[in-house]
Amino acid sequence: MAAPLISPSILSADFARLGEEVRAIDAAGADWIHVDVMDGHFVPNLTIGPMVVKALRPHTAKTFDVHLMISPVDPYLQAFADAGADIITFHPEAGPHAHRTVQAIKALGKQAGVSLNPGTPAKMLDYLYEEIDLVLVMSVNPGFGGQSFISSQLRKIEAIRKSIDKTGRDIRLEVDGGVDPAIAQLCVDAGADVLVAGTAAFRGGPDCYAANIAALKGVG
Ligand code: DX5
Ligand code: ZN
Repeated sequence: MAAPLISPSILSADFARLGEEVRAIDAAGADWIHVDVMDGHFVPNLTIGPMVVKALRPHTAKTFDVHLMISPVDPYLQAFADAGADIITFHPEAGPHAHRTVQAIKALGKQAGVSLNPGTPAKMLDYLYEEIDLVLVMSVNPGFGGQSFISSQLRKIEAIRKSIDKTGRDIRLEVDGGVDPAIAQLCVDAGADVLVAGTAAFRGGPDCYAANIAALKGVG
């Protein structure tokens, strides 16, 4: 089984040095950069917006994997696309028109991801598989880094892997929350091919980033 792609979440980086942190995690072997956008409304935390994405863009050529934990979503898509997002992932729980939001992201020339909260069943994706490029399974309740992995989500990952394989489309299956090397193996075994890691990627500081990423990639 191929090694998973690793998308470190900058939510766990040193926010006083974000540009340096993005350069360091890029150099340490990150495949993507996971950017957690939170609005204090859809989730009980407030982080960054398009201006910070724009400021970070020149610091790496790696894919910006932007996770919008915001509601509403549609009014901000253009700004994140212009700021340099490559993948724009939103939560269908955030509004009534998930299919239209996917179409809007694609119309901006970006890859469209859909993220499901732990309580949201995989069936939510049934009429989106033809359009999307990525599914992001939340294995924690969104809002904070450093939480524990919710193991019931392994069943959801398995179910979504089966559905993706049936479509024959190239859809990434990403897992987000509480992932460390041991959990990474369980996620890959269940069918994930991209792993988000905040705590497990950034712990120990810049001298540890390459080893942290290697440990997460070492599964598979
Ligand atoms: C949580 C975010 C996750 C989080 C992951 O709402 O979407 O990306 O930063 O952090 P860890 O890996 O520490 O759980
Ligand atoms: Zn995230």
